[in-house]
Amino acid sequence: MTKLTSGLIAMMISGATFAAPEALAEDGGVKVEHLGVNNTLVRVTGDGKYLVMPVQDNIDDAKVDILVDGKLDKTIYVRLAKSKVDYSVPFDLSQYKGHDVALNIVTSQGRSSVREAKEDACWKNFSVSDTFDTTNREKFRPAFHHAPLYGWMNDPNGMFYKDGRWHLYYQYNPYGSKWQNMTWGHSSSSDLVNWEHHPIAIEPDGLGSIFSGSCVVDKEGTAGFGKDAVVALYTSAATSQMQSMAHSNDNGETFEKYPGNPIITLESEARDPNMFWNEKTGEWNLSLAHALDHEMLFFTSPDLKNWTLQSAFGKGLGAQDGVWECPDLFKLPVSGTDTEKWMLICNINPGGPFGGSATQYFIGDFDGKTFTPDLDKDGKVPTKWMDYGKDHYATVSFSDTPDNRRTVIGWMSNWQYATEVPTMQFRSANTLPREVGLFKASDGQIYASSAPSPEVDALRDGVFKKASKIGVGKNAKSFAIPGLSEIDFEIDPKKAQKVTVVLSNGQGEKVELTYDVDAKTVSFDRRESGVTDFSQDFPAVTTTPTFSDNGKISLRLFIDRSSIELFGDNGRFVMTNLVFPGSPYDKISFSTAGGNADIRNLTVYNLKPTTL
Ligand code: FRU
Repeated sequence: MTKLTSGLIAMMISGATFAAPEALAEDGGVKVEHLGVNNTLVRVTGDGKYLVMPVQDNIDDAKVDILVDGKLDKTIYVRLAKSKVDYSVPFDLSQYKGHDVALNIVTSQGRSSVREAKEDACWKNFSVSDTFDTTNREKFRPAFHHAPLYGWMNDPNGMFYKDGRWHLYYQYNPYGSKWQNMTWGHSSSSDLVNWEHHPIAIEPDGLGSIFSGSCVVDKEGTAGFGKDAVVALYTSAATSQMQSMAHSNDNGETFEKYPGNPIITLESEARDPNMFWNEKTGEWNLSLAHALDHEMLFFTSPDLKNWTLQSAFGKGLGAQDGVWECPDLFKLPVSGTDTEKWMLICNINPGGPFGGSATQYFIGDFDGKTFTPDLDKDGKVPTKWMDYGKDHYATVSFSDTPDNRRTVIGWMSNWQYATEVPTMQFRSANTLPREVGLFKASDGQIYASSAPSPEVDALRDGVFKKASKIGVGKNAKSFAIPGLSEIDFEIDPKKAQKVTVVLSNGQGEKVELTYDVDAKTVSFDRRESGVTDFSQDFPAVTTTPTFSDNGKISLRLFIDRSSIELFGDNGRFVMTNLVFPGSPYDKISFSTAGGNADIRNLTVYNLKPTTL
């Protein structure tokens, strides 16, 4: 926030009266001219890098046409403040230096007269400034998870690794903390935990906004953009959805769109193209979500531009209660065997096991054209989930990774309430990076594991507590934990039927984890976890199967300011859930029902914040 804007907001909060709007507007480097009940022209008259726009989080968008020398340059949608300013967002003016810039604004909320329209809080709070303050002002901002500095984020996408850096793009609204104006935001990291934020990578154009997609490093230059060009495919989304292409010759910092876009059109909704080079067939493969048809389409191409539809998979299979989105397809070894299998990720929303969004997957074979799923012992295609929490969606992997790693990141929220969570400066964070593997369970089926990437260990900042064995019974045993923590332990249930682990704070807020030994499940109860009342879908209990054969399980918990990730048995079962406690959980308690149990090899690490 600029000093000027924050000053104005402070004045508003303290109830101070304003000078005439025109005078203030001129001072802020803009001239405001009201043209009618819901139409206003804001001219940029001052010099500066940003036009800072005041936003009210919970009202409708205004349509803002950006006019440069009188010509329409772009249209953005912004919740321009009506009765109060919740926060501000910057519009980058540096690209227009030396030109006249004006905003032709159509507000959507009903006003009865121009006089009433003039009262809108936004007109007095536009300003031109060389700076925009992104310092964190919110207690729920994660300390060691990737999140945008400000504005809205959903799906991670377009992820690739090149020359020692992990590039992460994401669905981004730079002009507010709710879904809108989809662009590709960009961050990168050399270690998967410290992220650097970069300028916006791909912006909306005449074909529409920029939905999810993928990137590959075109090592042989098959697309004609040179060897090692980074090629992105994404969905251009307007009235319809089409697939478009862009390439980068500066390692993903800037992209040039392909003049022949769109490169794939269909007669129904399809999105989120995800491509990879198929070593075996010597062709590019592409999976595309045929969203409303609840299936994935597979294409092939020699050059990333010309794609041939080969097959479709999924109609009537797996979970079908929502749109299919964000596919990913890759091959992995099955641990402990000498076989390899293909894993097809099909994110679905709604229709997840606990309502709303979730990541289902299928295991099978892929011959370069067709995906054939494995069947269970009844000859059916089983439905499998990558994560049994409520806040794990749009999970896809990095391309071109070193050491054949399959590293994934998911969006740590749920479309049921993502726009309502109690943050404002930013909305949504990503999961910790995870390594996907395959294992065979005792039911003969192959399942995916996802364990924290080894780089995550670098978050540890000293051991807070260590105990090799703690006997627990029905009276709870409690220990202090640090606010940002990793808690690792094994449960040997011995005679116990249930082992309960409670994370709590002094305000009586808690998360209850229960290991049900006979049912072979672990549940996560966040109904009393803190702020839960922003959505009726938020208070919930989620439950995961453990796949444990001998009853012993190991757990790794990662507790950040507004999330808990639980990894069981090295990622064979996973639960990711958001929580919004009034103060950090500072205590862990263990108790049992039905007999005594042992907690073994407990280590509590203090975790350090990363650069975010
Ligand atoms: C998934 C999704 C994608 C789409 C994007 C739009 O969360 O709906 O299918 O590309 O979000 O932001």
